[in-house]
Amino acid sequence: MPNVVVIGAQWGDEGKGRIIDLISEQVDVIARYQGGNNAGHTIVQGDKKIVLHHLPSGILREGKLSVIGNGVVIDPKVLIEELTNLQDTGYKVNCENFKISDRAHVIMPYHKAIDKARENLQGKGKIGTTGRGIGPVYEDKAARRGIKVAELIDPESFEARLKQVIDERNLYLSKVLESEPLSFEEIYTEYVEYGKYLKDYVCDTTKLLNDLLKDGKSILFEGAQGALLDIDFGTYPYVTSSNASSGGACTGTGVSPREIQSILGIAKAYTTRVGEGPFPTEISGDLEVKLRQAGKEFGSTTGRSRRCGWLDTFALKYASMVNGICNLAITKLDVLSGFEKLYICTGYIYNGQVLSDFPSTYKVLSACEPIYEEMPGWDQDISDAKDISELPTEAREYLQKIEEHTGIPIYTVSVGPSREKIIFLKELHS
Ligand code: IMP
Repeated sequence: MPNVVVIGAQWGDEGKGRIIDLISEQVDVIARYQGGNNAGHTIVQGDKKIVLHHLPSGILREGKLSVIGNGVVIDPKVLIEELTNLQDTGYKVNCENFKISDRAHVIMPYHKAIDKARENLQGKGKIGTTGRGIGPVYEDKAARRGIKVAELIDPESFEARLKQVIDERNLYLSKVLESEPLSFEEIYTEYVEYGKYLKDYVCDTTKLLNDLLKDGKSILFEGAQGALLDIDFGTYPYVTSSNASSGGACTGTGVSPREIQSILGIAKAYTTRVGEGPFPTEISGDLEVKLRQAGKEFGSTTGRSRRCGWLDTFALKYASMVNGICNLAITKLDVLSGFEKLYICTGYIYNGQVLSDFPSTYKVLSACEPIYEEMPGWDQDISDAKDISELPTEAREYLQKIEEHTGIPIYTVSVGPSREKIIFLKELHS
């Protein structure tokens, strides 16, 4: 198996967890490289449904090493809950098969308080964040007042660092955001215990990953969120605060681009988005309700209803350019059964002109009209299909159109939530 980066090619929630779970069987290491517990990766195994927020989706595979890289931001309380839940359910997670980067940054209570207070103050202009403190923790990282995992696990350094930053954060909370300041003592007492709990899992994962590569081991780099939520290339300012694109795999683990051979983009057979921001192919009314219910489009992190719309191959082409996507894994094709007509967006019109490129500004994107190609739908339940030949002609044509409009070969198509409901189409590029 080549070293492969797996990313979401839309606005997140593409079903990365189940694809990563599937292909992690063929690699030695699964390394998550950005985001925090704003992510929610759902994996269905038999009658068990497991939602992971922090842990890499490969954690459920025995004999694999799972790594949280330096680019990830960690809420230690949530991570510990996730670890203990999995251990209680019988999964073997220990400091042999799970490692946390000492360079990763810690989400502190003031990050969550700032995130929520800001969104409340913004009212209509809010981003619609997950409220997990993601923006504020990455802000602190860039402003050089963040707290790293290495400091969290060393009580002396933690005390000194927290003292250094808390007064300023409290001033910001109380004077600017009109919120309650937080107590140094309470945070210190609580978090120092988290540090003690996590200490044995922590190491220099950059050195570890590079050593493993030297020994010929293969790595799956796990992205969270999606290409269109990337801080640089997403639909700014309605984005998350990290590089969800494939480039983030290098900065978020400390592994060189020379080590990456393949990039797999995951895309739903339609499109969803959670939170605010432009979404040219968004649909409304009964059709949206039907799609949301068929696809169970409710956030696995916040429970919010996801906005739903048609597949946007113009946006996918852009995601492919920025990320170097070699193959697509199309998820949830079964959800489209029962729609009389389907629409694929192939381009945008802005100010009466057909655009040649995906817009780089919010102003233009939010005024774009999609150009659609209409396709016949299918009625059959396709969830038992095991081979492409078992799909109705219309479903096969739909997949062909995706390849045609994006220029990217499809690796897999999933037709149901569980591990086995997947059809393999083409080889993974390397
Ligand atoms: P934040 O990452 O919590 O700051 O949220 C910023 C934007 O990204 C909001 O629109 C969120 O709904 C969206 N977002 C963050 N994480 C995810 C995810 O895992 N799936 C889908 N949307 C996400």
